[in-house]
Amino acid sequence: MKFSKYNEFDRLEIEALFTRTFSDSEGEPEGKLIGHLVHKLMNGSKTDDIFGFIAAEQGQIVGCIFFTRLSFGSPIKAFMLSPVAIETDHQGKGIGQKLINIGIKRLRELGVEFIFTYGDPNYYSKVGFEHVAQEVAEAPFKLAHPEGWLGQSLDGGSLELPLGQACCVEAFNDPQYW
Ligand SMILES: CC(C)(COP(=O)(O)OP(=O)(O)OC[C@H]1O[C@@H](n2cnc3c(N)ncnc32)[C@H](O)[C@@H]1OP(=O)(O)O)[C@@H](O)C(=O)NCCC(=O)NCCS
Repeated sequence: MKFSKYNEFDRLEIEALFTRTFSDSEGEPEGKLIGHLVHKLMNGSKTDDIFGFIAAEQGQIVGCIFFTRLSFGSPIKAFMLSPVAIETDHQGKGIGQKLINIGIKRLRELGVEFIFTYGDPNYYSKVGFEHVAQEVAEAPFKLAHPEGWLGQSLDGGSLELPLGQACCVEAFNDPQYW
């Protein structure tokens, strides 16, 4: 398995991977929705605001993860992990955790202080995430599942001090994702 940064020539293949994977796990409408989200993320985000990493086997992309900037109206450097997809028949082999850890390592090297995500606490706790209260870091939109708002400090700083209201990149500016 080869892990690397995504590049723009991979965009169509990546969009198809997300559409296929989420269609398999959550049904076709969700697959289309996440495929569309990823299209907007890759095509509409400023270069400095997005990081993507891929896992490839025999030239085929079998996993992909994105991190996009979260702003807090202060100089805090924060990113949000979302979404991540591993090809259905490659799931459960550690590829997801490897991609998450590659992203975390790179963001830490770049001086990012906090990362957040919105997902299953049982999965993300395996890679260092813990629940974050809305009073500490308010999610960009009202959450359908507030227990899924998760974060971690990358520099040993406290995730107990209030950071305020988070703002996401344009592609996530839609309540249906939250
Ligand atoms: C969720 C996903 C990214 C995990 O990647 P993966 O490579 O399959 O997972 P890993 O092999 O790194 O980790 C496996 C572990 O996580 C657990 N796990 C995997 N998917 C899980 C899920 N959806 N919820 C909870 N736990 C999960 C497994 O039970 C396993 O636990 P173990 O290590 O104790 O045995 C992948 O399964 C996927 O693409 N799923 C469909 C799309 C999706 O739900 N994306 C996440 C939301 S953006």
